[in-house]
Amino acid sequence: MKKKIFSGVQPTGNLHLGNYLGAIKNFVSLSNDNENECIFCVVDLHAITVTQDPAILRENIRETVATFIASGIDPKKSIIFNQSQVVAHAEAAWILSCTAKMGWLNRMTQFKEKAGKDKEKASVGLYSYPILMAADILLYDSTHVPVGNDQKQHLELCRDIAQKFNNDFKVDDFFKIPEPLIQKEFSRIMSLKDGSKKMSKSDLSDLSRINLTDEKDEILNKIKKAKTDSLSIPTNIKEFVDRPEARNLIGIYSSLASMTFEDTIQKFSGKNFSELKENLSQILIDNLNPISNEIKKLLKEKSYLDKILEDGCQKADNIASKKIKKIHDIVGF
Ligand code: AMP
Ligand code: TRP
Repeated sequence: MKKKIFSGVQPTGNLHLGNYLGAIKNFVSLSNDNENECIFCVVDLHAITVTQDPAILRENIRETVATFIASGIDPKKSIIFNQSQVVAHAEAAWILSCTAKMGWLNRMTQFKEKAGKDKEKASVGLYSYPILMAADILLYDSTHVPVGNDQKQHLELCRDIAQKFNNDFKVDDFFKIPEPLIQKEFSRIMSLKDGSKKMSKSDLSDLSRINLTDEKDEILNKIKKAKTDSLSIPTNIKEFVDRPEARNLIGIYSSLASMTFEDTIQKFSGKNFSELKENLSQILIDNLNPISNEIKKLLKEKSYLDKILEDGCQKADNIASKKIKKIHDIVGF
């Protein structure tokens, strides 16, 4: 049986190396396997859980599509669409919010991080966001969901919601229970300025991340300024304890070079960080420059990008509208 792959990325700008190595690179290899049916969703409904400027949001939706294509996803083989245009997502999210329990959502660590100290001021949407994510996945009978490590808990919640719905309504196997696909090594790329924080779109310092649209000079500068420590590069894994920045830089190098962590340590062991940084900048430029150039080229072709979304939305709607009809029947509408 074909695997049904589904994943989503928020169109919130600044797509970075963490998004690429944690998620998009994996999307590309999955989509190149003819055994898989892939759907990649630009989750604009998720984006508005925090305040967005409408004009910028519109551009960021196109930029996310451009990034998918520039990274190597073929829109003829995979469905690429934006969530808001397939109405079943919002509707299924409502229905599933009546299955999910407050206690389950209260455990979500991402909400706690994102809402910060003043939870009273967070939007209700930010709180219920994982239910919308479950709706995204379940509407397509997805079997596998490639995501970065930070989404693992949301995937578990999705599985719980699917199971409870199936049990409550005695419809065994109606919602498929999806498997997460999370990279084993380096599923979490950390900030270049603080190895204990994940690389993030929302970090105020642009020096904390490598954006997929960064030019060669920006990459060189950011890697040069990346935080390290005063020791030389460890000779074995044990020596990485309490050295998160060293671990992160070695991890990024191994992911890009498709080398194991151990082999990368061997390559640089005992050397200075300056040597690692030179090699790292080069491999980043070699990998990201073609993507960055292609994104910039595609962004000039707005109608091409819009057409991809339009076609993708039609195909997605075809699948999702059938599933939501069955959901109506099951719940008694
Ligand atoms: P988002 O930008 O939050 O929509 O995330 C899109 C995808 O990138 C998700 O699968 C995330 O898990 C993944 N991701 C985001 N930040 C990182 C990071 N620093 N390291 C690894 N994966 C990440
Ligand atoms: N919540 C995910 C993130 O912030 C994005 C997302 C929304 C998603 N719906 C999804 C990922 C469905 C996988 C499957 O990264």
